[in-house]
Amino acid sequence: MTDRWSAHAQAYHESDAHTAGADLDLIVDWAEGETALDVASGGGHVARRLRDAGFDVVTVDPSPGMQADVRSTADELPFADGSFDVVATRIAPHHFADVPAAMREMARVARRLVVVVDNLNRGEQVEEAERLRDPTHVRNYSEAEWRALFGEAGLDVEALDVIETTIELEPWLARADCRGEEAQRVRALVRELIADGRLSMTRIAIKGRKR
Ligand SMILES: C[S@@+](CC[C@H](N)C(=O)[O-])C[C@H]1O[C@@H](n2cnc3c(N)ncnc32)[C@H](O)[C@@H]1O
Repeated sequence: MTDRWSAHAQAYHESDAHTAGADLDLIVDWAEGETALDVASGGGHVARRLRDAGFDVVTVDPSPGMQADVRSTADELPFADGSFDVVATRIAPHHFADVPAAMREMARVARRLVVVVDNLNRGEQVEEAERLRDPTHVRNYSEAEWRALFGEAGLDVEALDVIETTIELEPWLARADCRGEEAQRVRALVRELIADGRLSMTRIAIKGRKR
């Protein structure tokens, strides 16, 4: 899993789907305090924005090529309880094998807030396309599932936003090395979401406060 990510690290640093977006603005708006942890930091876009806003940020990611400050998966974070005012993770939990464990860990190392941004579940056809495009895709969750995950981790949902956006289709396929017939199959599965070479995406952003 991690080698696959490392091979495409540069693409994740540069991709239009990751470098900008209303969801990044929201993370900065919601964050409070002085210290933050960016979990599954990838190209480091959350960390960059929080640093620009004055936060002292640590990045954590399991893939060597992402060059995070700390190398670890989200379900066993090597930090003491309450180490960071804000713990954020963006466009990544759909790759985690154990999201409930990751949520418990993020809540444990947070002092105040956990903020999650991820792609929203849009039905089995899109899930099939996601898995075909990228075998590291585990599952996108629905709003109800996210609310339950926050509650089970001891977090009260204080704010929630659903954000519609579009990303370039072909770089999205290339980032996951999805080519040829497989790419054709993916394009067919998501055809209703494609317009002018762009794929519509729906992201959910949730702010949870520790009880
Ligand atoms: C799409 S990228 C993250 C994007 C980044 N957060 C951003 O805002 O641009 C997904 C990241 O999840 C990481 N990842 C995959 N499985 C993980 C796991 N179980 N725990 C933590 N990170 C994981 C990968 O190494 C990769 O860097």
